Amino acid sequence: MSQQEIWEREYKDKKLVGGDKPAASFRAFCKWLKKERKKAGRIENPGFPFQAMSVLDLGSGEGKNALFIAERGAEVVGVEIAKNAIKNAQESAKRKDRELRVAGGSVEYRWGSIGKKLDVSTESVDVVFDVTSSNALSTEQRKNYLDEVGRVLKTRGYFFVRALCKDGDDNAKELIKKYPGPEPDTYVMPGVGLVERVFTESDFRKTYNQFTILKLEKEFHYTKMNDRSYKRVFWIAYLQK
Ligand SMILES: C[S@@+](CC[C@H](N)C(=O)[O-])C[C@H]1O[C@@H](n2cnc3c(N)ncnc32)[C@H](O)[C@@H]1O
Repeated sequence: MSQQEIWEREYKDKKLVGGDKPAASFRAFCKWLKKERKKAGRIENPGFPFQAMSVLDLGSGEGKNALFIAERGAEVVGVEIAKNAIKNAQESAKRKDRELRVAGGSVEYRWGSIGKKLDVSTESVDVVFDVTSSNALSTEQRKNYLDEVGRVLKTRGYFFVRALCKDGDDNAKELIKKYPGPEPDTYVMPGVGLVERVFTESDFRKTYNQFTILKLEKEFHYTKMNDRSYKRVFWIAYLQK
């Protein structure tokens, strides 16, 4: 089963993804972004601080992060490989149509892989998110993803990344040992078939070295797998082109 088919199945019968509210770390990034925009004199209406800001949400899932920022004025394009996720995201956006119109924000979801060339203009995007979406990319796909983010971001544009961390994550180390994936520091999630890649700090810094790292910290979070809850560690990174 391909990674896309696994995600299609997941969005029909959810076992991994859950909740319709963005994670606290994502909301904290939005708060920080609002302050940055205020400092730069880019906020005209404080109620909708992200008006006229263009956002690219990589692996947008059911659109909870895209919708959160669009309701505050941003114009968001989400790229997602699972058509079932796009359908759910579009339905959520329809339910928020009035709020989006009042805010001047928008969401548009496109089907495609974030490991390939994106149908997005060069230097047209203010902010890119990858909220735990690039885990399954191969080294070659990851190179495309990094090149594409570098291409579409405007100079000094921001890139928010939430990625799986290896340092201090005993569950990740156990998974790599028991269920090794196709590349180093990857595993195949048992019973699910998803491939995930974890990063040590030096690995993360090397991977994202074309961007300036403004902030890099760890977040602890419990994730579900086969009806069990596992403590996992994530990298939260604020990057800038
Ligand atoms: C853990 S979910 C996170 C979804 C969303 N970012 C969120 O925070 O709710 C990972 C998402 O990435 C998508 N995804 C995985 N590989 C992808 C690829 N190569 N291209 C586009 N989307 C992908 C999955 O379908 C899934 O929706």
